[in-house]
Order: sequence, then C-alpha cells, then structure tokens
Amino acid sequence: MKEILQSFEVSYSYPVVFTRGVFAPGNAAFSSVIARAGPGPHRMLLALDSGLIEARPELIASVEAYTQGLGGLVELAGSPLVVRGGEICKSDPREVGELRRRIEAEGLCRHSFVVAIGGGSVLDAIGYGTATSHRGVRFIRVPTTVLAQNDAGVGTKNAINLDGRKNFIGTFAPPYAVINDLDMLDTLPERDMRSGIAEAIKVALIKDRAFFEELHQGRTRLASFDPEAMERMIVRCTELHLEHIRSTGDPFELGSARPLDFGHWAAHKLEEMSGYTLRHGEAVAVGVALDSLYSARSGMLPERDAGVIVRTLADIGFELGPPTLDELDIEAALAEFREHLGGSLNITLLAEIGRGVEVTSIDERRMADCISELRAAD
Ligand SMILES: NC(=O)c1ccc[n+]([C@@H]2O[C@H](COP(=O)([O-])OP(=O)(O)OC[C@H]3O[C@@H](n4cnc5c(N)ncnc54)[C@H](O)[C@@H]3O)[C@@H](O)[C@H]2O)c1
Ligand SMILES: [Zn+2]
Repeated sequence: MKEILQSFEVSYSYPVVFTRGVFAPGNAAFSSVIARAGPGPHRMLLALDSGLIEARPELIASVEAYTQGLGGLVELAGSPLVVRGGEICKSDPREVGELRRRIEAEGLCRHSFVVAIGGGSVLDAIGYGTATSHRGVRFIRVPTTVLAQNDAGVGTKNAINLDGRKNFIGTFAPPYAVINDLDMLDTLPERDMRSGIAEAIKVALIKDRAFFEELHQGRTRLASFDPEAMERMIVRCTELHLEHIRSTGDPFELGSARPLDFGHWAAHKLEEMSGYTLRHGEAVAVGVALDSLYSARSGMLPERDAGVIVRTLADIGFELGPPTLDELDIEAALAEFREHLGGSLNITLLAEIGRGVEVTSIDERRMADCISELRAAD
C-alpha cells in the first residue's frame, strides 16, 4: 500500500469597500478594484436585480456610461442580464441557466468578470452560477439591500434552492470584491430596510455586547431607519461577519459549528413554510427571539436579558410570533439543519449577551413552550 498525502494552502483576500454613488462619474471605488487585475480591457457581464431596476430605471444607463468612461479598462459583454429579484431567482433554475448561457455565448473566460448588482437572493444565485461556470469566473458583488450589505454579500458562500429546500445547492467561492453603495438603500422598501437589522442583532448577540447595547439604545432610530444609525449598524455588522470568517480559520465551514447561523435553524424552515413570503431577515428575527428565550429557559442566559432581546426586536418592528410558528416541526427542522451542517447537531445559543455557546442537543418540549410564549405575546 502506498499513500501520498497531498497538502497545500491557498490564501484568499478580497476588498469590501463602502462608498456612495458607486456609478457616479469619477467614483474610483469600482474602477480601482478592476484596475488591480491589470490595465484591461476586462470583459464584464452585468447581472442586475429586476426589483432594483424597477426602483431605479436610470441605473442601467449609469452603469454603462460609467464603464464606458473608464478609458478602455472595461469592455461590457453585451447588454445586462436582468435577474428576477427576490427568492424566485434562487428557486427557479432558469435564472442560473440563463446566466451560464450568457457566459458561454459572450465567450467570457475565467479572468473575465461577472458583476451582480442586487439583493442577497440575486447575489446568491448569480454567485453560484458564476462559481460553477468555467469552474469559477471572477465575481464582484454590489449588494443593494441592508441584509446583502451587512451579511449575505460579504462572505464566502452562495446558494440556490432545490424543490423549495433552502440553500441546498451551492458552493464556497470567495468573491473578487464587494462594493457596498449606501445610496442604493434610498429606494429600498421598508420591509427590506428592517429585514437586514435582524442579522446585525444576531451577530451582536453572539459576538459583541457593546454593539448590541448600541442597537438596543438606538432601536427607535433604527425603527425609523435613521440614515446615520443604519450606516453605523451596517458597517459594524459587516466588520463582525468578516472578522468571524477570517479569524475562526474555517471560512469554508469544514467543522460543524456555525455561530453566524444563530437563530437560523428555525428561520430557514419558517422561510420555506411560508413559501418564501417571509423575508430571510424577518424569519431570522423570529429565530433569534426563539433561541434567546430557549437559552434563558435552559438556565444559560439571564431571563432579563432574553426580555431585552425580544423587546429590541419587537420595538424595531419585527413580528415575532407569526402564525407559521404553530406548524413548525421542531424535530424535522433540527434534523434538516444537522444534515446541512454535516452530520452532527451544533446549535448556537447564548451564554450572555455578546457571547454565543454551542450545544449539541435541544429539548423539544422546552422549545415548544418557547414557541407558545412567542405566539401568545404577538
Ligand atoms: N450567502 C450568504 O452567506 C447569505 C447570508 C444571508 C442571507 N443570504 C440570502 O440572502 C437572501 C435574502 O436577501 P435580501 O434580504 O437582500 O433580499 P432579496 O435579495 O430577496 O431582495 C428583497 C427585495 O428587494 C428588491 N431590491 C433589492 N435592492 C433594492 C433596492 N436598492 N431598491 C429597491 N428594491 C430593491 C429585490 O428585487 C427584492 O424584491 C436569502 O435568500 C438568504 O438566504 C445569503
Ligand atoms: Zn441569515
């Protein structure tokens, strides 16, 4: 018998840039990212979120004018691909199919760029299609929702759904760059402004007590989407997500622990059960409230703290006891989550505000009591 141990390390780095007016003439945030790849011309396919285009019909012309003004650095590969915004583009495989056909028809290579501009759903779907064309074309994300800027757009993952099953198909593929334009949020509907705040509360609860206190103190300003409070929240949330991915040494999630998925075992199932009428962040708010209550009922988190968490989420405007909760099959949802993690159950709960802790089992009766409590309070 002979064994050859193959072993190598690959280092990744990508910039996550914050700017305003990314496609205004003279803004260097985008062009300097492309210029890192050399003088060009760099071929580039644009994929744009249909909801974004509806709210900003002038965007296509702005992006085209901006890229044309870069002195030959970029060569657009045909007209932009408009992708149906929202979860539909992850659930209907036609969207990814169309992207692949365009990459092929335009003759893009692995050194070309695909630039996706839109919400987390479009970034996930286009990111997946890009990562699996030619085994990975360079991918730039321009997130345009709060949730995409502070979470979905900045990490290493992408995914689409299989027959309604959330994120079943996907890859780990770090982007070439992420460019967050805070001005994009000006056209975002209230529901999506609020949705992304849930991910900030989530990451604050497991990682950063001072950040949670800031969110709690500022909850009235966040509830009215005060631009300054929103910007601080987005930037800090992005930093914490990036820091986690960087510092745990597990950017491709080879282990079972998944602290950033605090509250997500229930959230993913609730999204599915709602037929994706619940937004991801809305479902995360419910999941975070539920697992905070459960942490308190299990004697890990002071009762008072669970109360503060639930009040913060409710005051920001989240509905924490939606009717779908009544139908949540706890056992099945935990089993699916375990499968997705890789075999063994690891659920993040709270030891205190700002510190998550992993547990390997859940008392289903106690969890059911927490669900009843959330339903009753709503
Ligand atoms: N890959 C990851 O690590 C990761 C992390 C968290 C969430 N996600 C995924 O992200 C998705 C949710 O993303 P989301 O919350 O950004 O919602 P979304 O992408 O579904 O977008 C919500 C709605 O906003 C519209 N829209 C987008 N930008 C707009 C703008 N600036 N103005 C007006 N309308 C705009 C879209 O067309 C859509 O109708 C879920 O599928 C979730 O699973 C992925
Ligand atoms: Zn999430």
